Amino acid sequence: MKTIRSVTAWEILDSRGRPTVTVQVTLGSGAVGLASVPSGASTGSFEAVELRDGDAQRYNGQGVLTAVNNVRTEIAEALMGKDATDQEDIDHTLIALDGTANRSRLGANAVLGASLAVARAAARHRGMPLYRYIANAGGRERPGGNRCILPVPQLNVLNGGRHADNPLDVQEFMLVPHGFDSFPRALQAGTETFHALRKLLLERGLSTGVGDEGGFAPALTASTEALDLLMAAIEKAGYAPGREIALALDVAATEFYQDGHYHLSEAGKPLTAQELGALYDQWLERYPIVSIEDAFAEEDWDAWSAYTQQQGDRVQLVGDDLFVTNPQRLRRGIRQGVADAILIKLNQIGTLTETLRTIQLAQSSGYAAVISHRSGETDDTFISDLAVATGAGQIKAGAPSRGERVAKYNRLLAIGHELEDKAVFAGSNAVRQAVHVS
Ligand code: PGA
Ligand code: ZN
Repeated sequence: MKTIRSVTAWEILDSRGRPTVTVQVTLGSGAVGLASVPSGASTGSFEAVELRDGDAQRYNGQGVLTAVNNVRTEIAEALMGKDATDQEDIDHTLIALDGTANRSRLGANAVLGASLAVARAAARHRGMPLYRYIANAGGRERPGGNRCILPVPQLNVLNGGRHADNPLDVQEFMLVPHGFDSFPRALQAGTETFHALRKLLLERGLSTGVGDEGGFAPALTASTEALDLLMAAIEKAGYAPGREIALALDVAATEFYQDGHYHLSEAGKPLTAQELGALYDQWLERYPIVSIEDAFAEEDWDAWSAYTQQQGDRVQLVGDDLFVTNPQRLRRGIRQGVADAILIKLNQIGTLTETLRTIQLAQSSGYAAVISHRSGETDDTFISDLAVATGAGQIKAGAPSRGERVAKYNRLLAIGHELEDKAVFAGSNAVRQAVHVS
């Protein structure tokens, strides 16, 4: 029986030791699905709302017992007896029950937990791996045909911005190991480079403590110092910068945008969008950067479209806080020629169905989709299956360090092992598409 028999939830801790929601759904057949919800730190203002209790007596107000209770009562009641394999119906029910545009009544953490736990239970019921179930639920032809695509990882090995206590303005400096013939080989190269980077930091007397996403967080001040270190680490590990391992940035520029200017401490003075773009141009000249995420602020559409016109053919421009996985914002971007890729975070929008729709809209409009974790994570690996199911070709899940990050990469290794020769690595194709080289 594929009907939902029970829905329950409880509070757990995320990787920052902050409370988050776990939902468990059980079907009539006995199939059980569990899902845990991640949480961001540099959140976009247009994201779906994460419900926090605000009770200063517990976890400094960060508790999620209200969201948990919403799952146990209203959501459980609404989903009980429903067909778990009809994901669209489940998600539409959740959206209607919440009744707000941004999931602020029940909480996106409550709604997403339920949505994903139902999908997992349904996959179990069908006896299918989750990635295959999601591919079917999306009603899509997989871009790779019968073969599944394993994504190129963006490994965030140097953390700055909101994710670390160092002075770096740019939030994420990432390795993109693409010039390899398999996912395991690419992950190996990225991880060896991560270890080489650790040695370089030690040699220079810099800290090797890690930030929220598992990357090192040394007290560097200039972005170019960080980029130089990555180049040196790639070479030290015996790889070719650019051809085998490229670089990517998440600038998270909304975080330092104020009064129409970009306040990078390394620049010494507030920059206009044009000046910031000129700084990126210099970096693009010097380093093999293939992707820049949130290069401009979430509301600075003019800067985004000007820079897309200028450099969109040369580098992938990813909208995270800009698009917040939201089809309306993505549609505006497509109309205005803004960016050419979208970061996908399930909890920015709140249900699996909406997420799949946004990915489909992106892919059918020539935008790449990069599936992403959050800086606050759990051991849940839903995003790994989502990346394979949608053939996205790119995933961002942090450094190969910290259990909650490694869990995502390990899940991809498991999927690859299971699929054997039915899986292909997105590899350099994904990067060539990102930088528009045929
Ligand atoms: P967040 O950061 O999860 O803290 O929002 C990740 C990102 O900006 O990509
Ligand atoms: Zn981002």
